[in-house]
Amino acid sequence: MTTPRALVAGNWKMNGLKASSSEITHLNDLISTSGANCDVLICPPFTLISTLVAMGAKNVPIGAQDCHMNVSGAHTGDVSAQMIKELGCDYIIVGHSERRADHGESNDIVKAKAAAAQEAGTTAIICVGETLQDREAGNTLNVVSSQVRGSIPKNAPAAQTIIAYEPVWAIGTGKVPTAANVEEVHKVIREILVDRFGADGKQVKILYGGSVKASNATELMSVPNVNGALVGGASLKAEDFYGIISAYDKIG
Ligand code: PGA
Repeated sequence: MTTPRALVAGNWKMNGLKASSSEITHLNDLISTSGANCDVLICPPFTLISTLVAMGAKNVPIGAQDCHMNVSGAHTGDVSAQMIKELGCDYIIVGHSERRADHGESNDIVKAKAAAAQEAGTTAIICVGETLQDREAGNTLNVVSSQVRGSIPKNAPAAQTIIAYEPVWAIGTGKVPTAANVEEVHKVIREILVDRFGADGKQVKILYGGSVKASNATELMSVPNVNGALVGGASLKAEDFYGIISAYDKIG
């Protein structure tokens, strides 16, 4: 059984104005010139999706950072998965720790959002990860396991499911777990996916996220069961992000 093709996904969070479209042009050119041995994705804020999709940068697909769990209705300020799909996005991040913390999103909410994303025909990138408190209390595997089990929708198609393991304490801090720590968590996630999806669970991508940058990408992306990265800060500049993408030239 071959391993899934890796995905290096950028999460711009609440960053970017129209001028940032030059980073997409630059990234597209870097990939055209020097290639990419992995799939690539950029998830900008909602406000930029149309602009960036309209650029037609063929090497840089555009995704979204969140969606509502319903298809339509009285939900002021929210955006549905169907609306995002219509814009030309094939991926939606759900359950990022910043949404879990800032918007009180429980596993049940994340599960409903993932289901909405999948029903709209997109792939849900479901984020999980322990806090520093969880890790220090020795609860990492329990917390991550229950998030993975609790956030995958009942009828989830394996082919439209991606898990992103992002230790909360590693996000935006410059701190990264050891390769051995990442391996331990990804192995448990893989076991849950195989338990859930059978052999197809081996093809579900498990991304690592949290302070990934060009200088640590090769080590982190070489860990067994790490099938790519979810990148925040280092995705904002095309050169930095391409440095992570090109880690896959060395990994093969
Ligand atoms: P970071 O963010 O790469 O800036 O640590 C990762 C994420 O939150 O997806």
